Amino acid sequence: MTDDALAEQLDYYRRRAGEYDETAYGDVATARERIARLVAGMRPAGDVLEIACGTGLWTEALATWAGTLTAVDAAPETVEIARSRVRSANVEFVVGDVFSWTPGTRFDVVFFSAWLSHVPVGRFDGFWRALEGFLAPGGRVLFIDEHADVRGKETFVADGIVERRLRDGSTFRVVKHFLEPDSLTRRLHRLGWDCVVGRDGDWIRGEAGRIPPAAQ
Ligand SMILES: C[S@@+](CC[C@H](N)C(=O)[O-])C[C@H]1O[C@@H](n2cnc3c(N)ncnc32)[C@H](O)[C@@H]1O
Repeated sequence: MTDDALAEQLDYYRRRAGEYDETAYGDVATARERIARLVAGMRPAGDVLEIACGTGLWTEALATWAGTLTAVDAAPETVEIARSRVRSANVEFVVGDVFSWTPGTRFDVVFFSAWLSHVPVGRFDGFWRALEGFLAPGGRVLFIDEHADVRGKETFVADGIVERRLRDGSTFRVVKHFLEPDSLTRRLHRLGWDCVVGRDGDWIRGEAGRIPPAAQ
């Protein structure tokens, strides 16, 4: 079920690529300003990995802070849009599935926006274990996602599964677990992460780092 749901979710994002910016963000110029402000607040310096970069709206802002930026997404269609949007010399795009991709290096910062809520419950712990392996010592995970307050806009067809519709009328099942800051913080703490989650309107923003083994 999980693998089927993930495959359908990816298919959905591949087909949505051309309409994503408008349907996800509405006024893209306003979204860019908000993204630039949030990224500036997170200060993602050094070698940065962006997971599920989509059409590159966050990549664009991250590139101004990062020394190097590796931006990964499993949908070639979204990576193509991101590539044409972000031409900074310090950015490398990769088409890859985050559940199987291995970077071959470690990063000071791993960032993802609108991704964690698409990770199935059964993959959550493994995803955070993989993140530990992606991070250099002292590295940080930074993330943005939707606040649970906006869950009413979705059509749930099962626990953690919503139905989404594209402009051509086609429908897809997508994984969606809205994240509530307090329970997310507790859950990550149990996995050995020190985590602070704040709010920016309808989004949450989080920062997590490994708790040193001696303190766990
Ligand atoms: C909600 S979009 C977020 C895009 C971008 N980060 C943003 O905030 O605008 C989710 C992204 O996850 C990507 N994706 C889906 N499954 C993936 C996987 N298994 N590995 C990597 N990326 C994946 C999709 O292609 C899509 O671009």
